[in-house]
Amino acid sequence: MRLSRKGLVALGLVAALGALPACSSSANKDKSSGKDGGKKVEVFSWWTGPGEQEGLDAMVADFKKNNPGIEFVNAAVSGGAGTNAKAILANRLQANDAPGSYQRHAGLELQDDIKAGKVQDVTYLYEQEGWKSKLPKGLLDAITIDSKIYAVPVNIHRANLMWFQPKTLQTLGISAPPKTWSEFLTQAEQIKGKGKTALSIGPGWTQKHLLETVLLGELGTDAYTGLWNGKTDWKSAQVIAALDTYKKVLSYSDIGSAAADWQPAIDKVLDGSAVYNVMGDWADAYLGRSKKLKFQTDYNVVASPGSDGVYDFLSDSFTLPVGVKDKAASEKWLKECGSVSGQDAFNPQKGSVPARTDADKSKYTDYLATALKTWQDPSTKIVGSLAHGVVANNAWNAEIDTALGLFVQDKDSAKFANAVAKSYTSTK
Ligand code: GAL
Repeated sequence: MRLSRKGLVALGLVAALGALPACSSSANKDKSSGKDGGKKVEVFSWWTGPGEQEGLDAMVADFKKNNPGIEFVNAAVSGGAGTNAKAILANRLQANDAPGSYQRHAGLELQDDIKAGKVQDVTYLYEQEGWKSKLPKGLLDAITIDSKIYAVPVNIHRANLMWFQPKTLQTLGISAPPKTWSEFLTQAEQIKGKGKTALSIGPGWTQKHLLETVLLGELGTDAYTGLWNGKTDWKSAQVIAALDTYKKVLSYSDIGSAAADWQPAIDKVLDGSAVYNVMGDWADAYLGRSKKLKFQTDYNVVASPGSDGVYDFLSDSFTLPVGVKDKAASEKWLKECGSVSGQDAFNPQKGSVPARTDADKSKYTDYLATALKTWQDPSTKIVGSLAHGVVANNAWNAEIDTALGLFVQDKDSAKFANAVAKSYTSTK
C-alpha cells in the first residue's frame, strides 16, 4: 500500500501528530464495571441519509449476528460530512455524556480529542486482534501518537471524483468529461449556453470539498500537500491563481440555489438539470445502491479535473471514548469495525474500500473494483482531504470555514489566502 510513513510525513501528519504531548492515561477514568459490561453499545455517527445508512445497517447486522447479547443503539445524527453531528457530539463530550463509540476521521481531526484526553488508547485491541499487520502503515501512523493507537479505521474513501450521467453528455454533444479545470471552464460556458448548470453544489462543506479538488488539480500533489504543512505559501501567485480558478468554477455552479446536502445536489445531475457534481465515493453508494442505477450506463465517474492517478483519501474510524459506560460492549463494536467480516459488510454498501489489506476483493464490483485497484496501485499518489479531517486540525478547519464563507461572497482571493495563512499559524 502506498500510504507510507514517508507519504504522511509529506502530508505533515506525522510531524504534527508526533509533536503532541502524551495523552494522560484514561483507563482509570473508565466507568465500565468489566464484570457487568457487554450489554449495550451506543454508536454515534452521521450515517442516516440514503447512501450512508445502508453501510452502517450492514455492519450493524453483522455485529448483531456476532454479538446476539448486546443491544445496539444507533445515535446517528443526520447531515453530510457530520456538520450537525460534530456539534452535538462536542456538547455530549463536554457534558461527560460520551457514547459507547463515535466516528472520527483518521488524521488531524482526531488530534484535538487525543490532546484533550477524550479518547482511550486501544493499542491492546490491535495486539489482541493482530490488526497492526493488516492495515497500511501510513494509515496506522495517522491514528497513532507516541506509539499509542486511538481509533479503529473501517474504510478508505476517495474525495477527488466528478460524477455525471453519460446520457446528459451525449445530449449536449460533449465527448468526454474535462481532464483539467481549464477544460471544465470551456465546457461550462457551452453548457450554460444550452441552459443547464455545469456543476451542482450543496452546503458549505461541499464548497470546501470542491475547493480542495480545485487546489489539487491546479497545484499538483506536492504543492497541494505543502498547503497543509506550511511548505506552500498560500499568498504565492500560484495559489492565488488556483483560487481565481475556484471562483470561476463556482460561477458556473448553482451556488445561488445550493442544495441542502450532497444527495439533493447529485439529484440535479440525475434529473439532467446539472451536468457534473464533485463528491467523494459515498456518491457511488447513493447512485448504485440506494437509487439502484447502473454504473457506467446510468451514471459514471472520473477523477476530478487535473487529479488523475491521485487518491485524495479520508478514513472513517471509531473510537473508545473516555468515560464510556459499557466498555466491554464498546470493545466488541470496535472489534467488529476492525474485522474482515465487518469491513466487507460495510464497505460494499458504503462506497468505500476496506482499510484492511486482506479483505475479500470479490465483494468489490463496478466502481469499487476500480477504486480498490487504484488504491492498491503502487504508482497512485496519496494526498489527504481537507474537508474530511485528514490534513488540518479542527481549529484551523473552523477558521477556513469562516474565511471560505466570506470568500464565496466577496470573491477576494488574496483576502482569503491571507486569512488561511494567518490562521495556520495561530491554530498550530
Ligand atoms: C464524510 C465521511 C463519509 C461520508 C461523507 C458524507 O466526512 O467520511 O463517510 O459520510 O462525509 O456524509
